[in-house]
Amino acid sequence: MAPDASGADPRISASAIRLRKGGEPIVCLTAYTYPIARLLDDHVDLLLVGDSVAMVLHGHKTTLGASLEMMIAHGQAVMRGAAKACVVVDMPAGSYEATARQAVASARRVVGETGCQAVKLEGGVTVARQIAAIVAAGIPVMGHIGLQPQSVESDGGYRIKGRTDENVAALYRDAEAVEKAGAFSVVIEGTVETVAADLTRHISIPTIGIGASGECDGQILVIDDMVGLTVDRVPKFVKQYADLRSVISQAAASYAAEVRSRTFPGPSHVFSAAADKGEA
Ligand code: KIV
Repeated sequence: MAPDASGADPRISASAIRLRKGGEPIVCLTAYTYPIARLLDDHVDLLLVGDSVAMVLHGHKTTLGASLEMMIAHGQAVMRGAAKACVVVDMPAGSYEATARQAVASARRVVGETGCQAVKLEGGVTVARQIAAIVAAGIPVMGHIGLQPQSVESDGGYRIKGRTDENVAALYRDAEAVEKAGAFSVVIEGTVETVAADLTRHISIPTIGIGASGECDGQILVIDDMVGLTVDRVPKFVKQYADLRSVISQAAASYAAEVRSRTFPGPSHVFSAAADKGEA
């Protein structure tokens, strides 16, 4: 987004999010499209173009179906729709794990082609070098620890983290590594409530919870889950605030009935030979 008349960028920056540690909760949602970004922009602090887009909009079984091109296309759409929120775009699996050089090249492409404020990548200790290199290249990074959807196949499914002492210790190592590497915030997903709350107190950067704890510095949900559009079963941690599947299904049923009975289109939806005011 271009700077406004005063020269200031009206978007919430990654550093402004970083300063919210321990303050007013940070409101985050995923967004993948222009109209949804426009609708959500007034209500949230941060929009994440999550690689969940591969499952939610493209019908893949896991987030491994996301590509850099897919993330960039959705990132561009969200950037066109959001004027105020901090926009973060996910780095898809395969675009950053190999080397720090690969991670920086992918992050530069994402930011260069979308104009987003930051990128997100999954992992703690194992990707600390990549996070540090992207931050050193001047691109803010959001971390993602706990349950990591890009690893569900190698993990044997969606497994809640923090249920064994060994796993809690690994979570602490991951949180500390992400913080030390310079991330401005970190998503904690699918983690035992008390562990996520303790991690939030332990590190100095904001934690954004999803299936984690109300004590996290912010919360995020997948937009389609939150508005009741998701076709498959939604996880326990989702609260549905609307039932858009029923609304859309009822609208489609009414439309189909009216087309079949020839009551749509009606007189107000067709054109006469003489031009009317306000017609398309
Ligand atoms: O891809 C995604 O939507 C995410 C959020 C659920 C945190 O990573």
